[in-house]
Amino acid sequence: MITIENLTVKYGGVVALDSLTLNISDDVVGLIGPNGAGKTTLTNAFSGFAPVTDGKVVIDGVNLLHMAPHKRACWGLARSFQKVQVVDDITVADHLRTVLTANGVPRSARNARMSEVLDFTNITDERDTLGADLNPFQKRMTEIAKCLIDRPRIILLDEPGGGLSEGEMQHLRFIIRETKSRFGAQIIMVDHDVDLIRDVCASTAVLDFGKLIAFGPTEDVLRDEAVKAAYLGR
Ligand SMILES: Nc1ncnc2c1ncn2[C@@H]1O[C@H](COP(=O)(O)OP(=O)(O)OP(=O)(O)O)[C@@H](O)[C@H]1O
Ligand SMILES: [Mg+2]
Repeated sequence: MITIENLTVKYGGVVALDSLTLNISDDVVGLIGPNGAGKTTLTNAFSGFAPVTDGKVVIDGVNLLHMAPHKRACWGLARSFQKVQVVDDITVADHLRTVLTANGVPRSARNARMSEVLDFTNITDERDTLGADLNPFQKRMTEIAKCLIDRPRIILLDEPGGGLSEGEMQHLRFIIRETKSRFGAQIIMVDHDVDLIRDVCASTAVLDFGKLIAFGPTEDVLRDEAVKAAYLGR
């Protein structure tokens, strides 16, 4: 269970998150809202990259905001970025090794972990390929493999479907649906693709101007008049 209570983030005069309160328990939860609504800011607040002025994020009884940002990954928080963060001049395996090393995963477990996530994300053949030579799907999968490899408690995905073809989206859906049972992690996923959200998220939260305007079973939320109005209003 993730409990977000009165979470507030301000950038000067912009209130990017305005006293957000939300309890999340489903395995895959969607986070949607118009551009600038505060979705990426929420993922940044979890991982320690946003100026939180008030509130709590409590996961398994621990207030994440009391933990130094660099300790949150080892504790069990993983994230991907809206703009893919794959480095050109190192291989896929090197990307994964950086996580294993940074998080202190025992050497004896590293090879098995790597094979498992490469297989799951469908990039086994790209293990020794440089970041620069990966296609957009393989880059996305490398980021997701980095998220999975240390078996986190929570994974935050910021627009993982951006730029993928329909066939590639099928694989992304499979990964998102299977993550909890195979790797034990709960997913919070930001995306603008309503079909993807509908397909994989049991519940969905909607932000607008930093405020929660709807939360509940995804189908109900997508039918909500206030949600439709927020999208049409921009
Ligand atoms: N580093 C920053 N400095 C100043 N303002 C910021 C910063 N990051 C976000 N903001 C502002 O906070 C608000 C929320 O931005 P955020 O990036 O969280 O939106 P979003 O919902 O992820 O939008 P999008 O769908 O376009 O990715 C916006 O008004 C944005 O301009
Ligand atoms: Mg964003």
